[in-house]
Amino acid sequence: MYRLLLARILVAMALILLSPSDPIAEESDGYVAMLREKVPGHERHTTGHFAPMWEPMARQMIEDYDLDAGVALDIGSSCSPFLIELAKRTDMTAYAVDIDSWAMRLLGVMVDEAELTGRVIPVEGDWQDLPFKDDFADFIFSRGTIPFVPDQVQALRETYRVLKPGGVAFIGHGGFGRLLDPEDRDRLVAWRLAWDTGERARPEGWDGPKEGLLDLAEEAGIPDAQLLTEPEVGWWLEIRK
Ligand SMILES: C[S@@+](CC[C@H](N)C(=O)[O-])C[C@H]1O[C@@H](n2cnc3c(N)ncnc32)[C@H](O)[C@@H]1O
Repeated sequence: MYRLLLARILVAMALILLSPSDPIAEESDGYVAMLREKVPGHERHTTGHFAPMWEPMARQMIEDYDLDAGVALDIGSSCSPFLIELAKRTDMTAYAVDIDSWAMRLLGVMVDEAELTGRVIPVEGDWQDLPFKDDFADFIFSRGTIPFVPDQVQALRETYRVLKPGGVAFIGHGGFGRLLDPEDRDRLVAWRLAWDTGERARPEGWDGPKEGLLDLAEEAGIPDAQLLTEPEVGWWLEIRK
């Protein structure tokens, strides 16, 4: 009896060891590895030093703007862990927009892995000419992208065009969010301020509008905008339509 059982176990183990590997799985692993190489910043967002920021940021947006259902947009999203957290906590359909097509493909893989296929939709596009109809989104988010857009006034015009009446947009230059754990916040603030002391190189183009966000909104003809700040590191433009 025991001999038979042992023989069966040995045969099963031999079958597993000798069976050919799954070529489809191998190809898919190769594709994902290639995407990860093409989007070098993805680790910083998903598992690196920015990773603790997204869940509290999503909670803050849900709390402040009563988000529940409808359409959300993250512009200059990269591989948006923010929208993944938002989609897990609401019934919103979320669109990520980035000019970087590799980041959008990698986000597609991450969305499938998170079992949010169809709930978070990656779209390649330019903020200055958004691929959405007028009055499309109930909520628009963007963080850390406005400094890199050549025509920032046009980007804000596009944001306002796509925002639904009654909706809100929250556009940030820097900033880590109000609900981030204080230890994580101190660490990220120190990391950011190291740019100012010259300890670490500042990314090219980072010196963006900061308080000037409000002037840009005025230039874009947006009537209802206000500036919200986070000590030292964050400037957010809140737009209502
Ligand atoms: C510094 S990353 C910010 C990523 C993420 N939102 C965050 O907060 O960490 C800036 C992102 O903006 C994207 N980007 C730059 N110019 C853009 C444009 N004109 N339209 C859309 N996305 C743009 C870049 O490809 C990049 O993914």
